[in-house]
Amino acid sequence: MSSYIGRHAELYDIFYADKPYAEEAAFVHQCLQQYSVGTTHRLLELACGTGTHALALEKLGYEIVATDYSEDMLACARRKAAEGGSSVDFRWQDMRALDIADRPFDAAICLFDSIGYVETNEALRQVLQGVHRHLRPDGLFVFEFWHAVAMLRNHDPVRVRRWSMPKGELVRISETKLDYAKQLARVTYTIYELRHDGTYASLKETQTNRYFLVQEMAGWLSSCGFMPLKWFAGFAPDGSITEQTWHIVAVARKCGELSEA
Ligand SMILES: C[S@@+](CC[C@H](N)C(=O)[O-])C[C@H]1O[C@@H](n2cnc3c(N)ncnc32)[C@H](O)[C@@H]1O
Repeated sequence: MSSYIGRHAELYDIFYADKPYAEEAAFVHQCLQQYSVGTTHRLLELACGTGTHALALEKLGYEIVATDYSEDMLACARRKAAEGGSSVDFRWQDMRALDIADRPFDAAICLFDSIGYVETNEALRQVLQGVHRHLRPDGLFVFEFWHAVAMLRNHDPVRVRRWSMPKGELVRISETKLDYAKQLARVTYTIYELRHDGTYASLKETQTNRYFLVQEMAGWLSSCGFMPLKWFAGFAPDGSITEQTWHIVAVARKCGELSEA
């Protein structure tokens, strides 16, 4: 299982150029300030992708170890860090088997629905227990997940998006199929880079991501040693969660230690 390989990783920041990363980082910062017990300075990011949240959070004063399992995404992140004079420490990690020697961290984050990539109950438990192991007592976990209600009611089986590029046009076709029993969305991306001179390049990648209900996620958190503190409708401080809420930002606090069994 892998995602964002090769050219797909290089195109990632073009696809999400409109995503308000700086505002989202400011929202995470606000959550960390509001809900933390004691000072929160040292952050662990899971599934950091090309590192845009980490780079923005560093500007807000955090020291960050940012991890991902796509070497190609990490290469983009490290390039951006070098260009911007950043000290974010980008490292390869599979979030299902987190193992960072210089722990604990004050807080962990996992954004843009990345926690759903692990798909299965067993893997989700591995992620949550891994985060728990890497946090100090009372440490926070702020993460975002795909909301099942919006996915089941509103998903588009086919979406086409286009971006104008200096040498032509970028076209992405996203085809989504839902597996209701496993709560998975399988999205096949077919991407064309169409050049003005009539030539083109294409790639295809299928990604599988899980969607969750809020109370289901509350159960997961409680069973893995976290106390759920707050559910936000996306990165909005006071919106209520509705059938149109695609992304839920959860804030949870580590409580107690897990047994080793
Ligand atoms: C939608 S991207 C989000 C990236 C970034 N958080 C953002 O907001 O732009 C999902 C990321 O999850 C990473 N990912 C998926 N499964 C993973 C795993 N098991 N361990 C670590 N990273 C994983 C992918 O490589 C990809 O970078």
